[in-house]
Amino acid sequence: MDSTWAVVTGASSGLGVAFAHRLASEGANIVLAARSEDRLEQVAADLRSRHGVRTRVSPVDLSSPDGRAGFVEEVSRTPVSHLINNAGFGTLGDFAEIDPARVTQELELDVVALTELSRAVAPGMVSRGRGAIVNVASTAAFQPIPGMAVYAAAKAYVLRFSCALWDELHATGVRAIALCPGPTQTSFFANAGNSEVMGRRRTPEQVVDTAWIGLKRHRPYTVDGLGNWGLALTAGLAPVRLQTLISRGIVSR
Ligand SMILES: NC(=O)c1ccc[n+]([C@@H]2O[C@H](COP(=O)([O-])OP(=O)(O)OC[C@H]3O[C@@H](n4cnc5c(N)ncnc54)[C@H](OP(=O)(O)O)[C@@H]3O)[C@@H](O)[C@H]2O)c1
Repeated sequence: MDSTWAVVTGASSGLGVAFAHRLASEGANIVLAARSEDRLEQVAADLRSRHGVRTRVSPVDLSSPDGRAGFVEEVSRTPVSHLINNAGFGTLGDFAEIDPARVTQELELDVVALTELSRAVAPGMVSRGRGAIVNVASTAAFQPIPGMAVYAAAKAYVLRFSCALWDELHATGVRAIALCPGPTQTSFFANAGNSEVMGRRRTPEQVVDTAWIGLKRHRPYTVDGLGNWGLALTAGLAPVRLQTLISRGIVSR
């Protein structure tokens, strides 16, 4: 029996559940992490019954330095085949008006936890000469977004960090990729403060397909959906004033 594990953060809903099913369908044993223990147990039971894999449930608040320390330590001692750094949230609203505690939690989760977990698995993957780190960024990474300033900046970090990691790990057999979804059918926008924002949405399964193609092609980053690719490639070409004008218009619709 395979002794390695795939670690999926944010595995209690949305994209994380789709990642867990994809990995389990390929025979991976899954460590599921998020705060909602009940939902994680449900996902784990479903994975075991549908795919016959082993599961471990880790209820953890990854935005809390104390809360995540034990989990990061546990992951560093686990032979990890895939790390899916997927847990994340955003906040809609002007920076001067949003809850400062929420700003800190957003950075701790979207940036610090992702970085610490990548650091926890990278040495083991390099020594085994294989493994994959999928860091979930966003199309928000490609331009500043007034009304979602912290989220867009955090995802820009994820994109840059992952692309550098891709290069550093290139020759070792280990893959790293930043996945940039656009609006997707999950609880993300409801949790960010407005479920009505953004119209057409992709499915979590389509986003996971895109990640798998990107890994297969050994890309440093990938964008889900043709329209999103177009926006991502052109966003940086516009002057900053135009970028912010357009992106504010989109999030405040
Ligand atoms: N949906 C979109 O339109 C979209 C677009 C671009 C990028 N993304 C990115 O995709 C990723 C997944 O989000 P999603 O769309 O699947 O949204 P989601 O359904 O809201 O899922 C977010 C996941 O993160 C977990 N999470 C939140 N806070 C956490 C914490 N403090 N500690 C541990 N886990 C935590 C949640 O579980 P618990 O609540 O149980 O902790 C949940 O499993 C995020 O990184 C997001 O930024 C989403």
